[in-house]
Amino acid sequence: MQNPKNILITGASSGIGRALAIVYSAPGINLFLCGRNSEKLGQTKTFCENLGAKVFLEILDVTNEFAVKNWVEKIDILDLVIANAGISAGTAGGSESFAQVKKIFSTNLDGVLNLIHPAIEKMKLRKNKFPRGQIALISSLAGMRGLPSSPAYSGSKAAVKVYGEGLRGNLAPFGIAVNVICPGYIKTPMTDVNDFPMPFLMSVEKCAATIKRDLAKNKSRIAFPFPLYFVVWLAALLSTKITDPIFAKLPGKKALKEELK
Ligand SMILES: NC(=O)c1ccc[n+]([C@@H]2O[C@H](COP(=O)([O-])OP(=O)(O)OC[C@H]3O[C@@H](n4cnc5c(N)ncnc54)[C@H](OP(=O)(O)O)[C@@H]3O)[C@@H](O)[C@H]2O)c1
Repeated sequence: MQNPKNILITGASSGIGRALAIVYSAPGINLFLCGRNSEKLGQTKTFCENLGAKVFLEILDVTNEFAVKNWVEKIDILDLVIANAGISAGTAGGSESFAQVKKIFSTNLDGVLNLIHPAIEKMKLRKNKFPRGQIALISSLAGMRGLPSSPAYSGSKAAVKVYGEGLRGNLAPFGIAVNVICPGYIKTPMTDVNDFPMPFLMSVEKCAATIKRDLAKNKSRIAFPFPLYFVVWLAALLSTKITDPIFAKLPGKKALKEELK
């Protein structure tokens, strides 16, 4: 959608969500932002207000279906909804605990569904405007193929990607655009904990500018940076006989801290 004015972003207290809030900030823009950390979310609000946006904060956990629904329902108009909140963890060279797997899927998949369904219902009711709205789903290049170093993370992101691709065709007749966003490595607190080389690591500002540009063009899949996208896309096409031994050698991301499970 061109020039969205009422924009909702989950996970805006940090990283990509905060950078997106900043890149959309301007006079006349209303931002509806959520996260669990009120202090960090407040910092985002200050950055955005200094750029002229009106900012409305909600402290909530995206895994809480009713809290997310209540939040969406009390907002009058939504042009663009960006389902960004997510967590990441890996096997740390071992295997993932069931608690970690459930936590990752409930945040990265249920958290997205909890948001977009009430948002879609709200957009469908918008009779006087066409297109009625835009839903952007933050997946990952890690969702292009299952990764032995982070099965739950790559699985959760693959589910978001494929669900979004299906929804795009399903919701087009209603005038609702759906876009799947697959970033590679972006420099944020999520990747700052990684102790392995991250090819083509991109700044969060460039990531946010790329997403804003391509959402305005309604690109179905927004995947970047191109060299890493190409490698992952090719790997997903090749026989697993070739790619399994290569992926088995990838370094494991750290596991979730015990208190976060
Ligand atoms: N960085 C990368 O390289 C990369 C690459 C591909 C995809 N992604 C995806 O991009 C998204 C943003 O990641 P990031 O790198 O910006 O990470 P980040 O800096 O750790 O930010 C994650 C954001 O999600 C929020 N969040 C996490 N769990 C939440 C919950 N249960 N309820 C509400 N908010 C929650 C966090 O806020 P609170 O802590 O305040 O709740 C924070 O604002 C994620 O979906 C991630 O998987 C990142």
